Amino acid sequence: MNYIEHKGARVPALGLGTYPMEGQQCYDAVRWALDIGYRHIDTAESYHNEDAVGRALEDSGIPRDEIFLTTKCAIFRATAENVATEFSASLDKLRTDYVDLLLYHWPRQETPMDETLGALAEAKAASRTRHIGVGNFTISLMREAVEVYKADLFTNQFESHPLLRQPKVEAEAHRLGITVTAHSPIARGRAVDNPVLEKIGGKYGKSAPQVAIRWQLDKANTFLVPKSTRREGLVANFDVFDFALDDEDRAMIETLPNNMRGSRPPFEPDWDPID
Ligand SMILES: NC(=O)c1ccc[n+]([C@@H]2O[C@H](COP(=O)([O-])OP(=O)(O)OC[C@H]3O[C@@H](n4cnc5c(N)ncnc54)[C@H](OP(=O)(O)O)[C@@H]3O)[C@@H](O)[C@H]2O)c1
Repeated sequence: MNYIEHKGARVPALGLGTYPMEGQQCYDAVRWALDIGYRHIDTAESYHNEDAVGRALEDSGIPRDEIFLTTKCAIFRATAENVATEFSASLDKLRTDYVDLLLYHWPRQETPMDETLGALAEAKAASRTRHIGVGNFTISLMREAVEVYKADLFTNQFESHPLLRQPKVEAEAHRLGITVTAHSPIARGRAVDNPVLEKIGGKYGKSAPQVAIRWQLDKANTFLVPKSTRREGLVANFDVFDFALDDEDRAMIETLPNNMRGSRPPFEPDWDPID
């Protein structure tokens, strides 16, 4: 496993995404993942699966402090009051008195950013989360959060995979001292049968999704949270620490189309230009 050390934490770079799994399916996936060796789990209030995640964590018997647990809040209403209410409910469902990382899930224009970030900072001050961060923030939104509101952000979780490469957003996050967390790193499944990724993987006896995962792992200060409902998928996605991509592989990935954005809710921000 690759670990990233940031703001005093040592965190497995590869985590488990849990959307859109719910109930028993989510419980099973989290239990399998923990058996396989995953120790970084990504959920959100809006995924309606925190209860399943919480039960799986508890039933695993793994000490809470050996798992890096992220949840997200405020996807629909980003007021301070809503953050506080939602996050209390999240902790109850997760059966824990703290998370490692609490993210402001999507930027919402209706609520002033400093109000939402202030509510996250309060949760951190109360030791209910070790770190705070944001999701789907553009370059200008990251700058506003850090430079205007002085938010102490651990990560920006945004969509990143070989079919949506965002080096400028990554570079700005790093310049601001923020790690990157790649969501949908297998392009929501669209990278699975990509012929270029398959060809690269053929050199190493690896599949296209494994190449997509390795490509992120090779980046500095970058986490990723692929999801699979299947035990074989979870095993395969974890079997990526015995090979490395070379410059030729990375150059081939740069030739792929770079426009496959899968997460486009009605409240999406004005995305940064891709190139
Ligand atoms: N912050 C945000 O706004 C945001 C937005 C979207 C996602 N996320 C996070 O990112 C996580 C991952 O994103 P995602 O679920 O959208 O997409 P993803 O992880 O890029 O891709 C998941 C898809 O790939 C398939 N897959 C996974 N591993 C595979 C393998 N080894 N071989 C073949 N197929 C495989 C899965 O099918 P099977 O399940 O059948 O294996 C599923 O269809 C989410 O679960 C969530 O935690 C965050």
